[in-house]
Amino acid sequence: MFRGLCLVFTTLIVCAAWTPGAKAKDPEARAGAVDDARLRAADAEPGSWLAHGRNWAEQRHSTLDALNAGNVAQLELRWRYDPETERGLEATPIVVDGVMYATGTWSVVHAVDARSGQGIWRYDPQVPRAVGQKACCDVVNRGVAVYRGRVYSGTLDGRLIALDAGSGELIWEVQTVDPELYYTITGAPRVMKGRVVIGNGGAEYGVRGYVSAYDAETGKQLWRTYTVPANPADGFESPALERAARTWNGSWWELGGGGTVWDAMAYDPELDLLYVGTGNGSPWVRALRSPGGGDNLYLSSILALDPDDGRQVWHYQTTPGDNWDFTATQHMILAELEIGGQQRKVIMQAPKNGFFYVLDRRNGELISAEAFADVLWATHVDSETGRPVEREDLLFEESLQFIKPTFFGAHNWQPMSFNPKTGLVYIPTHEILGAYRRDPGYRRVEGEFNVGTDFNVFSAFGPEAVSGHLLAWDPVRQVEVWRVPLGLPWNGGTLTTAGNLVFQGTADGRLVAYRADTGQTLWVTHTGSGVIAAPITYAIDGVQYVSVMAGWGGAFALVAGPAGLGAARGPGVLLTWAIPDAVPTPADFESQITREGGVAKGEKLYHTWCARCHGSAGVSSSRLPDLRASQQRLGEAFIQVSLHGLADTGMPAMKRYVDADEVAEIQRYLASLPAP
Ligand code: HEC
Repeated sequence: MFRGLCLVFTTLIVCAAWTPGAKAKDPEARAGAVDDARLRAADAEPGSWLAHGRNWAEQRHSTLDALNAGNVAQLELRWRYDPETERGLEATPIVVDGVMYATGTWSVVHAVDARSGQGIWRYDPQVPRAVGQKACCDVVNRGVAVYRGRVYSGTLDGRLIALDAGSGELIWEVQTVDPELYYTITGAPRVMKGRVVIGNGGAEYGVRGYVSAYDAETGKQLWRTYTVPANPADGFESPALERAARTWNGSWWELGGGGTVWDAMAYDPELDLLYVGTGNGSPWVRALRSPGGGDNLYLSSILALDPDDGRQVWHYQTTPGDNWDFTATQHMILAELEIGGQQRKVIMQAPKNGFFYVLDRRNGELISAEAFADVLWATHVDSETGRPVEREDLLFEESLQFIKPTFFGAHNWQPMSFNPKTGLVYIPTHEILGAYRRDPGYRRVEGEFNVGTDFNVFSAFGPEAVSGHLLAWDPVRQVEVWRVPLGLPWNGGTLTTAGNLVFQGTADGRLVAYRADTGQTLWVTHTGSGVIAAPITYAIDGVQYVSVMAGWGGAFALVAGPAGLGAARGPGVLLTWAIPDAVPTPADFESQITREGGVAKGEKLYHTWCARCHGSAGVSSSRLPDLRASQQRLGEAFIQVSLHGLADTGMPAMKRYVDADEVAEIQRYLASLPAP
C-alpha cells in the first residue's frame, strides 16, 4: 500500500502524504488528536467543538460569527444522518478536524463526516435491552469525549469504553458499576490531564452516588469519590464523608442514599479544580431516607474535586435535606464576571430547585442566588447562611401539596449557555406543576423506583399544568432580561454565538434562532421530532454549520401522559444546516465525479446503463435491489443476471449494451462504494 508520494529532485525531496495510512503515521494528523493544550485553547479554535460544553468552562458559546443575526434567516438544511432510533436523543456532538462524534440511544456511538453527513463508523456496545428497566429517564446518552486519538463513551449498563477515533474499533472497556445494582450511565465523560472522568445515575432505584477517574491510556481506575457516606460502622473513605455522615440519620446506607453524578461537570485548569454536580436523595422522601432530618451531605450539591486524586476541596449544597428530587446535576458554567466592581471567577448553576446560583469557584462561597422560575417550596436563599428557607406549610408528609418546581426541575439536564458579549445565560426553563404526596403504602421494592411519593397524583394533569420558555438571565444582576414563551416544557438545550445568536430546539419539533440580546425570532425550521438536545456550531473551510440531534424522549416524554401529547414525535435524526452561499460550487461536484483508474470506468458504465433504475451513485431510494448488496451476495452470478436479465421481473437483459468485462467493471465500482 502506498504510504505517500515522494518526488526526488537533486537537492530536495518533496513528500505528499495522501493515503489515510500515511495520515495515521503522523500523530498530529491522526483522528481525534485533542490534547489538554487544545482543550484549554478551545476558544481559539471555533471551527471545532472539542468538548461537551465546547470548552472546559462549559460555556456553549462559539466565537464564530460568519453566521449572525444579519444572515441567519438564510440557513438551509445541508444534511441529515439517521441514528436509527425512535427514542430520545440527548447528545451534544463533538466535532474534531471535520469529524463529528455523537451518541444515540442504547449508547451507540456514531462518527460522521461533519461536512457531508456521510457515516464513517458506528460502534454498538450491545447494551442488553433488559438494562432499560434500570434507566429512570429513557435509554439515552448525552455524548462522548474525544482525546488523544480516542473516543470515550459511557454505556447504559455502566461500562466506560475507549474507541479508536479513526476506525471506531474498541481499544478498552471497563465496567464502572456493580452490574448487580441499579446504576446506569447516560452522561458524557469529561477528559483532562490524561484522565477520563465518569459518573452514573440510579438514585430512583436506591444506589450510592460516586464519580470515578480512569487512565485515558489504559482504562485503569485512578480514583473513585463517593458523594454520600456508607455505613459508618465500615469506616469512611475520606474525612469529607466522615463530616457528611453527621448530617444523616437512620440506616440510609441500606436504602442507597443517592447523590449520583449523572450529568454535569466542568474543569478549571488554572485552579486545577474539577466541578461535579450531585443528584437527589434516594429515596426522595427525606423522612424515609433520614428519619429525624439532617442536611444529608452531599446530596444536591456542587463539589469541587482535585482531579488528581478525587479529593473534595469544597462543597456547596443547593437543597439541604432534599425532599423533592431536586438534583444539582444540572449544567454548570465557569465564567469571569464583574460583580460589585470586582472581577470574580464564578461557577453558575440553575439546578432543578428553581434558584440561579452564582458561586465563587475558588472556594464555593455563595455570591448570589435568586429564583429564575416559579418557586413554591422555599421563600428565598438566605445570603447570610447560604441556605434556602423552606416553606413549612408545603411539606407533604401528611397531605397532598402542589409544589413548583417539580422533579422535572425548573431546569433539567438540557444545557444552558453563556454569552460573554451579552453577559446573559440562556436557560431552557420548564414550568411544571408538581403534586407531592408521601406514598402511605410505601415499601422498598428491589430493582424498581423507590422514591416514596405517590405518582398517581399526576394522572389529573393535562397540558394546562405545563409550559416552558427560553429564558435570558442576567447572572450579575440576577434578573430576567427576556423570555420566549413556549407551549410545552422539556425544550432543548441552548447554543449561543458571537454572531449575537441563540439557538434552541423545541418540544414541538422546531429549531429556532433568536437574537441573543433581545430574544427576537430570526429563523425557524422544522425538525420532525421534538428537540431536547443542545445544538452546536462549527466551521469547515469557512462555512459555518449548525447541528442538532432531534429525537423526542427523556423523562418528561416518557411519563408526562396527556400533558406531553403536543410534542412532535417523528423518528430521531441528526440534522445540519448552513447558509446556501456556502453550498459547494459545481467545481466541487466535478472533483467528486472524477475518480482514479478502473473505478471511473465502472462508474461511467453504471451511470450509463444501470443508474436510471438502480439509482445514482449505486444507491436507489426505490425498492429495487441495492446493487451494492447484490454484487456482494451474487458474486459471479451478478454478471449472468446483468447480461441475461431476470425474466418476468423487469430486470432487462443488458447484454445488448454491456459485455461481461464491462459488468465486471461495474461490479468493481459497486465494491468501491460504502457497504449498504
Ligand atoms: C429498466 C430498469 C433496469 C435497468 C436499466 C437495470 N436493471 Fe437490474 N434490475 C431491475 C429490476 C426491476 C430488478 C429486480 C428484479 C426482481 O424483482 O428481483 C433488477 C435486478 C437486478 C439484479 C439482481 C439483484 C438481486 O439482488 O437479486 C442485478 C444483479 C441487476 N439488476 C443488475 C443490473 C445491472 C448491472 C444493470 C446495468 C448494466 C441493470 N441491472 C440495469 C431493473 C433494471
